[in-house]
Amino acid sequence: MRIMTLQAQSGSCKIALGESIDNLKGYCEGAGNVVVITDSNVRRLHGERLKGFDIIEISPGEGSKTLETAGEVFGRLLELEIDRSSFIVGVGGGIVCDITGFAASTYMRGVPFGFVPTTLLAQVDASVGGKNGVNFKGYKNIIGTIRQPRFCLCDFDLLRTLPKEEMRNGFAEAVKAAAIGDAPLLSYLEGNWKKASGLQRTAIAKVVHDSLQVKMKAVSADESERGERMKLNFGHTVGHAIEKATGMPHGEAISIGMVAAAGLSGKKAGLEAKEAQRLESLLKEIGLPTALGAKKDEVLEAIRKDKKRFGAKIRMVLLERIGSAVMADVGLEEMEAVVDDMC
Ligand code: GLY
Repeated sequence: MRIMTLQAQSGSCKIALGESIDNLKGYCEGAGNVVVITDSNVRRLHGERLKGFDIIEISPGEGSKTLETAGEVFGRLLELEIDRSSFIVGVGGGIVCDITGFAASTYMRGVPFGFVPTTLLAQVDASVGGKNGVNFKGYKNIIGTIRQPRFCLCDFDLLRTLPKEEMRNGFAEAVKAAAIGDAPLLSYLEGNWKKASGLQRTAIAKVVHDSLQVKMKAVSADESERGERMKLNFGHTVGHAIEKATGMPHGEAISIGMVAAAGLSGKKAGLEAKEAQRLESLLKEIGLPTALGAKKDEVLEAIRKDKKRFGAKIRMVLLERIGSAVMADVGLEEMEAVVDDMC
């Protein structure tokens, strides 16, 4: 087991890598009531391990990331007489973490909370960083909070029940972390992603640890996302537009988004073509999509909406080389040409 500590402006988060969910109680010590928020899939698979906790169950899927679900959670927290001396734990993937972090940060103006991420995507990215929110009127994560969980307990054994496509989604965020901030991690992934995917202990522990280190560095420097932290959005401008237009899972959508951003990086930030090719080859090998099959017009429309929000140009994350990202303003026409190339 390995402990990492994220120190951010709003608080600190203890990240326990390779810990067992069976030790969860110890992480909530001193709290009055402890309530677990989870979804029906996770409860079916791991409910036995949560015996003794009050449970609030939400429906799985992005459709639950709404103010309505948060409202239902608030109702249950009231029924269970949860107050500021209590503790709320989200056990699940990114959606459970988002609803838990958002509800815990707003109910009674803030109740302490922690996460047990059960997907690779949540372990390498979504559970860490303190941003938690819901979607509203078609906009992703437009309503939310920034408040650090007290802990993230990463139990790699929970990933055993994860479908292969869910593992692939997690690897997309690990590749992103490597691309923007850790060139040796990209080489490691090229040689070892299969071992990590098979949950070989050293390999999965290294991939989660190194990916989180990139994230923690950005979050501790810039929790409120005014500068350095924005680099974590590499692949997300086009990726979010694809997600919105097609309903494609997050990891798959940002995989395509990263290939698009790498293409632009060659033109505008100096990324060598062979490095962009390396990134694309790795994503392909992992089984992630690297081109947009359909719905080009809908994706372009979603990007244009982004443009309206941020002015004449879109601020994007580009790579000058693997392991080093920069922010750049990209014209809408340049973006459209890249999306066109990808179809
Ligand atoms: N909860 C994800 C983040 O803060 O980036």
